[in-house]
Amino acid sequence: MITIALPKGRLSSQTLNILKSTGLTSIDIDEDSRKLVFIDNIKNYKFILVKPFDVPTYVEYGIADIGVVGKDVLMEVNKKVYEILDLKIGKCYLAIAGPKGKKEIIYSKNKIRVASKFQNISFEYFKEAFNQEVEIINLNGSVELAPILGLSDLIIDIVESGRTLEENNLEVYDKLYDISARMIINRVSLKLKKKAIDEVIQTIERWLDND
Ligand code: PRP
Repeated sequence: MITIALPKGRLSSQTLNILKSTGLTSIDIDEDSRKLVFIDNIKNYKFILVKPFDVPTYVEYGIADIGVVGKDVLMEVNKKVYEILDLKIGKCYLAIAGPKGKKEIIYSKNKIRVASKFQNISFEYFKEAFNQEVEIINLNGSVELAPILGLSDLIIDIVESGRTLEENNLEVYDKLYDISARMIINRVSLKLKKKAIDEVIQTIERWLDND
């Protein structure tokens, strides 16, 4: 049996849509239920629903053979997994954002405070790109609150529709990386369960080509 880790949250319905459309599963995976494990005995797949940041961990340790996760999370957690496919869903970008009209003032400060869920990405980016002292503040969500309330000058976060920034009087200062969902594979599974995993990859590749 192949175990597939699926991300809860913003990628959830689009991922389930791929599974349905490709015929990879015929069972109903109810993303709104509290159930975390779904077994398709006919296709021989087990699906587990996990927090996006935990998908690479389950795959790295081989609890899941396959995972679906955003490139943003993959870049941040830096786990030893194979990134196999760009699923072309969950398209968004990582950006530096801050209060509207304040970019120049903030960028010229001696010390900048940055709030983000992406501590490592933020650290690496600012180490390369900025000369001034940078303090990274780790938050777990609603990051846009930080500059509004004075916890930070800037944020690094994903932007999809741009509505969250707009509705909080913030704007993109710099666009950093394009993001989309990726399929990742456990390194040992790719060898030991090659046939079954290749079948999943090829099924999705065919679907992507025709989409
Ligand atoms: C993400 C991200 C932004 C928002 C961007 O948060 O962190 O807050 O979505 O989307 P938009 O450009 O379409 O407004 P998410 O909804 O995943 O929740 P979180 O704030 O709890 O991380």
